[in-house]
Amino acid sequence: MAPVQSAEELRARADALGWFHRIDLGQGVVTNGLSSGPYVGPDKMPELTGKSVLDIGAWDGYYSFQAERLGARRVVALDHYVWGVDLGARQRYWAECAEAGVLPDHSRDTTDFWRPELPGRAAFDFAKEVLSSKVEPLLADFATVDVSEVGTFDVVLYLGVLYHMKEPLTVLERLRAVTTEVAVIETQAVSVAGMEGQNLVQFFGGEFIGDYGNWYVPTMAGLSEWALAAGFARVVPQVVPPVATPSLATRVRRVLSPTASTGPTDHPNLTYYRAVVHAFV
Ligand SMILES: C[S@@+](CC[C@H](N)C(=O)[O-])C[C@H]1O[C@@H](n2cnc3c(N)ncnc32)[C@H](O)[C@@H]1O
Repeated sequence: MAPVQSAEELRARADALGWFHRIDLGQGVVTNGLSSGPYVGPDKMPELTGKSVLDIGAWDGYYSFQAERLGARRVVALDHYVWGVDLGARQRYWAECAEAGVLPDHSRDTTDFWRPELPGRAAFDFAKEVLSSKVEPLLADFATVDVSEVGTFDVVLYLGVLYHMKEPLTVLERLRAVTTEVAVIETQAVSVAGMEGQNLVQFFGGEFIGDYGNWYVPTMAGLSEWALAAGFARVVPQVVPPVATPSLATRVRRVLSPTASTGPTDHPNLTYYRAVVHAFV
């Protein structure tokens, strides 16, 4: 890549790429990412100084670069899906499925929607270059890769990925296998009024928050039980579940139209939030 000369050029070249993360590239330029995160600030990270770190589902690498900044000795950014899938083509296919009232064929992600030149990694590559980062990209589907090829890491980041897993317990066992100290797990979670402390998991066979690839949403207790069942020894929540209260929009809608429901998430007892836990080996 030709070196970037000025803030204007950096801004123009960053804007020419599609971003999920908002990454500070320096010179006052922050990428215009779509993510509503970050959900895990430095205060929710374990000590990273001198640690080896694996960031599973790294996308543009926000958390990988953060780990490097926080003193990690080695950082590997692993991803698969968004780096190689033509998300535009897949989105058009999903819209057709929604229109036709049928569920999408997910196997198309790795066949006709797969782009081996990895267009979705361009933003990560650009940020890595601009930041003079030593983060190592690794193309792998963590749900199926031979974990012995991935190796083991002191700290493993598993942020915003669990709800995409069809077999979450199996994947959490794989997460345990690559972790030697602590895994940081961040996920969409649900708080259920009247059932605080119950280990529950809500299943979405269709789509959830506009994504057909979202399957399971646990309560905090459900997430902890999952991690313990996968072989982690101790789970420490970093975000306290909110008291489950319906949103203002939901309350207004229920007053105006008491019998209307927009789907399985539209219930006055359910409040969704992003849970963060540290799972220790
Ligand atoms: C919602 S994004 C979260 C990105 C980032 N970790 C964050 O929290 O901002 C989910 C990421 O997980 C990745 N992902 C999903 N399934 C994966 C798998 N089986 N192996 C590796 N990455 C996966 C996606 O490609 C995507 O980058």
